[in-house]
Order: sequence, then C-alpha cells, then structure tokens
Amino acid sequence: MIHPVILCGGSGTRLWPLSRKAYPKQFTPLFGRESLFQACLRRYLGDGFGAPVVLSHADFRFLAAEQISAVGLEKAAILLEPEARNTAPAILSAALYLAGQGKGDDLMLVAPSDHVIRDVPAFLTAVEAGTAAAEKGDLVAFGIRPDRAETGYGYLEVGSTDTATPKAMPVTRFIEKPDADRAEAMFAEGRFLWNAGIFLFKVDTLIAAFEALAPEMVPPCRLAVEKARDDLGFLRLDEEAFASAPEDSIDYAIMEKAAAVATVPVECGWSDLGAWDAVWREMSPDEQGVATSGAVTQIDCADVLLRSEDDGPRVVGVNLRDIAVIAMRDAVLVADMSDLQAVKTAVQTLKAEG
Ligand code: GDD
Ligand code: MG
Repeated sequence: MIHPVILCGGSGTRLWPLSRKAYPKQFTPLFGRESLFQACLRRYLGDGFGAPVVLSHADFRFLAAEQISAVGLEKAAILLEPEARNTAPAILSAALYLAGQGKGDDLMLVAPSDHVIRDVPAFLTAVEAGTAAAEKGDLVAFGIRPDRAETGYGYLEVGSTDTATPKAMPVTRFIEKPDADRAEAMFAEGRFLWNAGIFLFKVDTLIAAFEALAPEMVPPCRLAVEKARDDLGFLRLDEEAFASAPEDSIDYAIMEKAAAVATVPVECGWSDLGAWDAVWREMSPDEQGVATSGAVTQIDCADVLLRSEDDGPRVVGVNLRDIAVIAMRDAVLVADMSDLQAVKTAVQTLKAEG
C-alpha cells in the first residue's frame, strides 16, 4: 500500500499576483478549471494507493477540505501545521502520523501539489518501478532529464541518464540548489538528473533516516503528532511542539546526506511551476515565443507572457520583448522575463511596505 502525502503548505510567492498569501498557487485554477492540488489528488485515486495524507498550513484548511471533497474523495487525513517550517518537519510529521496508525511498514509517496504532470500513466509506471527499491530501504527520488542549468532544483548524480526506461538506479550524490557555476557544470557533464521533488520511501525508513541524520527534528515532531488535536475533522499538530522543530527542507536535512538514495528516471511532462517563466513554458508559446491567456491582445510581441482574467482587465501588449505581464483586478505585475525569480523579493518588499 502506498500512502500519498500531499504537500500544499507553500505560499508560492514567485507566482504573485495570482498566488496570494490567503490563496496560494496550488489552490488556484492555473490551467483549466481544476486547481493543481486537485489534479495532484486525482493522480492517486487508483488501486494501490491509500487515502491521502494532506499537509497544509492551518490557514488553508477550508480551501483544502473543499477541494478534496470536490474531487470526490471521502477519506483524507488533513494534518495542519501551525506555521510553515519547510518540508522536513512536515514530511516527518506525516511519517510519524502514519507509523502511529500502524503503517510503518507501508510506503509513502511525497507529492508536492504545485506541479504539472502531463503524462500521468507514465508517472505512475515510474512510481511502480520504484516500489521494490523503496521496500528494501532506499530513499527513492524521481529524476527528470535537465534541459537547462537551473539553480532552483536538486541534482541527482547517476551512472546513466537513460530516462526512457523507468528503472530504479543508485544516486551517488544529491546536490540541492547549486550555484550557477555548479549548475552549469553539472548540466554540461550530463550525468545528472533533476530531482522532481517527489519521493517514495517506507514510512519507517524515513523515520530512521531522520533519527540518524537530523535527530533534532524528531522529538518536536513526535510530540507535535502525539499531542495533535482533532478540530472538526482536521488534525492540528501541536503548536508549541511544532514551532520548536528546526526549519529545513527534506532535501538539505535528509536527501543530501543519506547513503541509500535511488532514483527512477521519468519522462512524464513534469513541470515545477516555480515562477512565471515555468508557466510560460507550460502554456506552449507560439513561434514568436508569445503565450497569452484571458482578456489579452498582443501586437508584434516576442518572448512575452501576457495574462489576465477572462473578464479583464484588458491587457494590450504592443511590440514588447522579454516581458511578463500578469494582470489581476487589484494588482498587475510587469517584469523582465529573465528575472522572474525576483518576484519573490518583490513580494517581500510589498510585505515590508505593508
Ligand atoms: N505542507 C507544507 N509545509 N508544504 C510545504 C512547506 C511547508 O512548510 N514548504 C514548502 N511546501 C511545499 C511546496 O508548496 C511545494 O509543493 C513543495 O513543498 C516543495 O517546496 P518548494 O519550496 O517548492 O521547494 P523547491 O521547489 O524550492 O525545491 C524542491 O522541489 C524541486 C522540484 O520542484 C526540492 O525538492 C528540489 O530538490 C526539487 O528539484
Ligand atoms: Mg517548488
């Protein structure tokens, strides 16, 4: 049995102004009618998967619950984090929760809810291909063939970069978010895959990995789960205990340090919609590099993303180059296409300005 552990606690600030503090990107209908979170839930409705464990910030609980029931899911455990402390404490808490339910021997599949996966059957085949390695105690990451020297991802060093065959293979090194030079070198070298941010492991294996590699994380998370209280069907992790867990990502806390890491390469049309340039790529821009959506008109533009709502405001782009314009009713972002990661900083500035 595989228990999907769905992460939807990030605030997605790089997709401002679509993604807001109270309404982060995973819950918004970025493509089509359903949200990314709902598309994520749907991937795991089939045989072999247990009821999902959803990890979210307490503020998003009603959004999450509403979208879970809209997908037709009757059973899901919703664990609420009193504050966002990154993925390591969240994932460990989910593992401790599952172990407490007598599921320590089962597998858990950590799935961020803000990704696009175009070819779900190919992805599920890769998950299946990873189960044997996870059963025997490997921490399994899913590997994507890189197409640029991205600095925002983790890199997996492998012996072969045959991504067409989904087969578990050992990872000799895991390098999280390299600087630009290192990313460039790894991309050029070719023996590296991107970490998709999706992981498969045995519940007890992960807990043991934390005990060995990030022991300071275990007591606070254990207490947060033990003292969790039911609140109208939501499970609220204990505030005080959770607040004392170190803030860290699973990638730095565990994956970079663990010895038994494996990867299953997968070609499934994966995209981490981290920033607007990723959304632009996902929108299949035309030959001029123009991608538009909503009430938008463009004349003689190239390499632009112009996005508005269907009912406006109307956006008209004339002879623009390398610009992203994201218009909402109450806010408009205009940014250089080459610097869209900086939207995160812009949001911090806005916050500071109140
Ligand atoms: N529940 C919960 N709580 N979820 C969280 C929290 C938290 O405190 N923080 C982040 N998340 C969710 C995000 O919403 C996202 O779905 C996922 O966890 C990963 O967090 P990101 O902050 O988006 O990580 P990243 O994109 O910088 O890096 C990770 O993903 C890359 C691929 O997308 C790493 O795993 C990289 O190695 C990987 O390449
Ligand atoms: Mg991400």
